[in-house]
Amino acid sequence: MKTLLRNKLKISSRIISASKGPLSGSLFITRKCNLNCPYCRAIRHPWKDLNTAEWIEVINKLYSWGVRLFSITGGEPMIRKDIYEIVAHISLTRKAIPWLISNFTIMTREKIDRLADAGLLFLTASLDSLSNSGVKSDGSILNLLEYARSRGIICSTITVIHRDNIDEIPDIMNEVTRRGIIFDVGFYQNVGGLFSASDADLKVKDRQKLERLRSRLRSHKLKTGLVAPSWKFLKSDLQMYSEMSWKCPTQKDAFLVINNDGRLMPCQEFASSVNVLDIDNLWDHRWRQQKAAIVKTCSGCYYGCYYQKVHMSPVDVLLDLYTMLKV
Ligand SMILES: C[S@@+](CC[C@H](N)C(=O)[O-])C[C@H]1O[C@@H](n2cnc3c(N)ncnc32)[C@H](O)[C@@H]1O
Repeated sequence: MKTLLRNKLKISSRIISASKGPLSGSLFITRKCNLNCPYCRAIRHPWKDLNTAEWIEVINKLYSWGVRLFSITGGEPMIRKDIYEIVAHISLTRKAIPWLISNFTIMTREKIDRLADAGLLFLTASLDSLSNSGVKSDGSILNLLEYARSRGIICSTITVIHRDNIDEIPDIMNEVTRRGIIFDVGFYQNVGGLFSASDADLKVKDRQKLERLRSRLRSHKLKTGLVAPSWKFLKSDLQMYSEMSWKCPTQKDAFLVINNDGRLMPCQEFASSVNVLDIDNLWDHRWRQQKAAIVKTCSGCYYGCYYQKVHMSPVDVLLDLYTMLKV
């Protein structure tokens, strides 16, 4: 418990130390994966992963631009042998916040120990069902998350909501939060870029079902403090989801996504040709022009995670504090 409290204080002081620039960066640490999820195309691209030294340089550059929260994604981050070194560089050397997202298929207590020793502060396991059928449906990963929490790491699950699992979401939420773990969700949609698969039918079409679910998420958030999506997102206009009409701002980088080869991406769906190591700051005209051009041609999306980073209200800050107290 002492470690958890110490880590919460570390997280707060590291966030406060960010005085400029985008607070969070998402690293596609590898595009290799041991799973093939029906809604995900993140791994279907041939680019070569940066090596350890190159990632360290990228992390240093992002840190100098103000990034303090590094979410490590992919592909499956745990298949990289140097994952502990990368986490340690973010947390122990740079004093920033490492956050790892994994499918947990090759996670073990020993690996969690090594991640905790490397200074990991947030750990998320993908969990789309508790039925033990299909990918990411093994409820026993919750035992591993409980173990990670005993090592001082703040833990959550994330569920991609789609046509086939929407009815099961309240049960997953109840089970996850009953164990004191944060419950997060993302809505599947087909954007047509590098990330989401093109199965348009997976998208939830039933607006009433979606609204009922969001209302349950809201009340469970107030009751337990363990539901991650922001209040603003859970109250937002669902028209944006059915039309996928939301666009990210071009003049401001609320978050950064870095491709596995070091290129900057406006979001996980589209990559620019600008490598982080080739520019001095985010005002470089090559990045600004390419981001603007990509956003202009993009038809829009409504990924909750991006919307939430751009629209952070005071209520959401208070509710995030509530979550930190409850976890
Ligand atoms: C791409 S995975 C990478 C990390 C790791 N392999 C995992 O499965 O957690 C990161 C998260 O994105 C989610 N995801 C993948 N494709 C998605 C999509 N089309 N829409 C929403 N979320 C998606 C995954 O389920 C996972 O929770």
